[in-house]
Amino acid sequence: ELEFFFPVEHTLAVIKPTAVKEHKDDIMQKVTNAGFIVSQMKETNFTREMATQFYKAHEGKPFFDQLVNYMSEGPSVIMILTKENAVEEWRQLMGPTDPDVAKESSPDSLRAQFAQDILRNAVHGSSNKEHALKSIEYVFGEIDLNSLSHN
Ligand code: TYD
Repeated sequence: ELEFFFPVEHTLAVIKPTAVKEHKDDIMQKVTNAGFIVSQMKETNFTREMATQFYKAHEGKPFFDQLVNYMSEGPSVIMILTKENAVEEWRQLMGPTDPDVAKESSPDSLRAQFAQDILRNAVHGSSNKEHALKSIEYVFGEIDLNSLSHN
């Protein structure tokens, strides 16, 4: 039982606007089936300013303006997911950034199943623990992560 060796972690997960409209229930089903605890959840329409801040690391890249426009075009569902090894496991459940790659390498992943294209790719997840803590604080404010449910 691999779980035994991993500490409980929290990660920030986002269901992006198109996926909220079309696949929210299917995605939530897969989240819980995979053993994640949804410790916090809110539906928020990112403003352009919030999306710019959220994806600051990508500022200046050719897709940045499209990304900010897309993320602010409708409500997203933003969650804190809690599980052993949550950061890595959520990235695995999401699959690769590009759904064409995801369909080849990880056909059961959320992006393989629910993404439209590399921009409208259904879900976001923190890339490492440090980013997870920063973006959790950005979205949910200073919350006591130790008080969140672990099981
Ligand atoms: P990135 O952090 O590279 O991927 P991931 O979401 O898998 O961590 O990119 C952030 C988002 O930017 C990505 O989910 C969708 C968008 N994006 C594009 O629209 N075009 C691209 O070529 C890339 C690399 C990303």
